[in-house]
Amino acid sequence: MTVTKNLTSIAEIYKTDKLEHGYTAVYEKYFENIRDQKLQILEIGIADGKSLLMWSDYFKNSTIIGIDIHKIDIKEKKLDRNNIKVHQGSQSDDKCINKLISQYGNFDIIIDDGSHLKKDVIKSFHLLFPYLNNDGLYVVEDMQTSYNHFFGGNPFDLKYSNSHMNFFKHLTDRLNYQEIANPFYTSNKYDAKITNVSFYHNLVFVRKGVNDKISKEVLKHSYENMKFNEKSSRTGNFFKYYIKYKIIYKTYTFVFMIFNLIKRLLLLRF
Ligand SMILES: C[S@@+](CC[C@H](N)C(=O)[O-])C[C@H]1O[C@@H](n2cnc3c(N)ncnc32)[C@H](O)[C@@H]1O
Repeated sequence: MTVTKNLTSIAEIYKTDKLEHGYTAVYEKYFENIRDQKLQILEIGIADGKSLLMWSDYFKNSTIIGIDIHKIDIKEKKLDRNNIKVHQGSQSDDKCINKLISQYGNFDIIIDDGSHLKKDVIKSFHLLFPYLNNDGLYVVEDMQTSYNHFFGGNPFDLKYSNSHMNFFKHLTDRLNYQEIANPFYTSNKYDAKITNVSFYHNLVFVRKGVNDKISKEVLKHSYENMKFNEKSSRTGNFFKYYIKYKIIYKTYTFVFMIFNLIKRLLLLRF
C-alpha cells in the first residue's frame, strides 16, 4: 500500500525553508483538496529548486513552472522531471512575463518567492494576476520585507506608506468596492475580481473570483440615491424624501468629501 505524504513530510525530504517559515502548514490547508487536479503552478524564485521538487511530488498531475533571474542548472539541481519547467528571467520584466503567459496561458496557483522587493512584488502582481484562473490563488511569501526599508518597505509609517503590505491590505477594499458610498468613486481594475484576501505571518493569499454582488446599501455608490428611491417609492412622499436625501444628505456628503480631500492634501496622502 502506498502512503500519500503530506506537504510537510515532502518539505522535510527536500529541506525547503518553507517548512521552517511555517508556510507548508498553511499551504496544506489550501491545497490538500486540489492536489490531485491537473493544475498549472508558477513559482517565482527557484534558487536550489527545493520548493519546485516539493511541489512536483505533491501535485503529481500538475505542471510546475519556475522562473528565476539567474540561470538554473537543471541537471545539477535535479529538476529534470517531466512535470517541472524552468525559465530564466525577472519577475518584473514585462517581456519575460508575457513570454511565459504566451507559452502557458493561465495559471491556477502563482507563488511569489522571488526578490521580495516592493517594486518586484507589486509589478509581478499587476502583470500576472490577470492570468490567474478564477478560483486561483496568488501567494506572496516573505512579506516581512514590507517592514524593512532596505527592501522598499517602510517600518516608520505602517499605515499610510505605499509598502507592499499596504498594497495587499488595500486589496481588501476591492472585496467591498460595491459598498463605497462615494458618488465620485472611480473603479479600480481589481474590483469584482477578488473574493478573498488572507494574511498569515509573512504570507499573503489572494483568491481570484467573480465578486459582482450588488450592494443592498448604496445605489451606484450613492447612499442618498438608494434611500431616496426606497423611501419615496414605498411611501409615495416624493417631496419630503427629495429634501431629506437629495438635498440635505447630498450636501453633507459633499462637505464630508471636501473635508477629506483637504485633509489628504495637507497630510500629503494621495
Ligand atoms: C528565496 S529564493 C527561492 C527559494 C525557492 N522558492 C525555494 O523555496 O526553495 C529567491 C530566488 O529568487 C530569485 N530572484 C531574485 N530576484 C528575482 C527577480 N527579479 N525575478 C525572478 N527571480 C528573482 C533569486 O535568484 C533566488 O534564487
